[in-house]
Amino acid sequence: MIESTSELNDLLRVAEEAARIGGDVLRAWAEKFTVSEKGPADLVTEADLASQVAIHDFIRARHPNHDFLGEEGLSRNDGGSGFRWIIDPLDGTSNYVHRFPYYAVSIGVEHRGEMVAGVIYDPTRDEMFAAVRGGGAMLNGSPIRVSRFSPLSQAMVIASFPPGVRADSPAMLRFLKVLPHAQTIHRSGSAALNLAYIAAGRLDGYWSSSLKPWDMAAGIVLVREAGGRITKTDGSPIDHHVMSLLATNGTLVHEELTKLLRD
Ligand code: IPD
Ligand code: CA
Ligand code: CA
Repeated sequence: MIESTSELNDLLRVAEEAARIGGDVLRAWAEKFTVSEKGPADLVTEADLASQVAIHDFIRARHPNHDFLGEEGLSRNDGGSGFRWIIDPLDGTSNYVHRFPYYAVSIGVEHRGEMVAGVIYDPTRDEMFAAVRGGGAMLNGSPIRVSRFSPLSQAMVIASFPPGVRADSPAMLRFLKVLPHAQTIHRSGSAALNLAYIAAGRLDGYWSSSLKPWDMAAGIVLVREAGGRITKTDGSPIDHHVMSLLATNGTLVHEELTKLLRD
């Protein structure tokens, strides 16, 4: 068991500080990075790795027996504390590369398999989205709530696709299926910020079938604590080790999207 709310709040403070450090690294690299491809259209820069190193070193110095999982090859499972930090040091690399200002640092804290705290930091707007289990969700220290837009015909929704998505892929067919039913539909390039925006009431629904644990770990806590609903696309309980995610403002939009996203 986690001892107390103050233990969770301490973890959150470390996560926030680490996310700001990651954000500083992204700013510092913004004018000088070079780009490589991990796979077709799947970009990585020196900034991704430098941000992860800085975040990891900062947290590790404070919690030497905690475990880690980070997108850029970071994995440690032998600390024995039951805590694991799940890190995306730059979510939205393709946006970062093109100077499209929609990317973030995402840091989630897992305790014995459950997500208990999360921060998503947008360095472009200096926006820190933060939440701990049972403590509500905050943006720069002020409480945030999901929107009330419903049904889907009144909603602004967003999808994300895997890098290099094909025109005939199931993800694209599902996007086209939702298209005529929603008021507005977007694709943005940062899963983490999409989740933060659901929590802040700036978007009403978001889904993907290709997410990794670091894309969603922090966002799970944020959406729940802001009063939203987060499941797999079929409506079953969310599991950050499974790629499927549907996050909404918890209105009828959730059921409507579950039906439309069924294959
Ligand atoms: C990507 C973004 C994108 C999503 C991809 C992710 P990255 O993360 O979150 O929105 O569609 O599936 O891989 O590579 O920029 O960290
Ligand atoms: Ca990333
Ligand atoms: Ca990511």
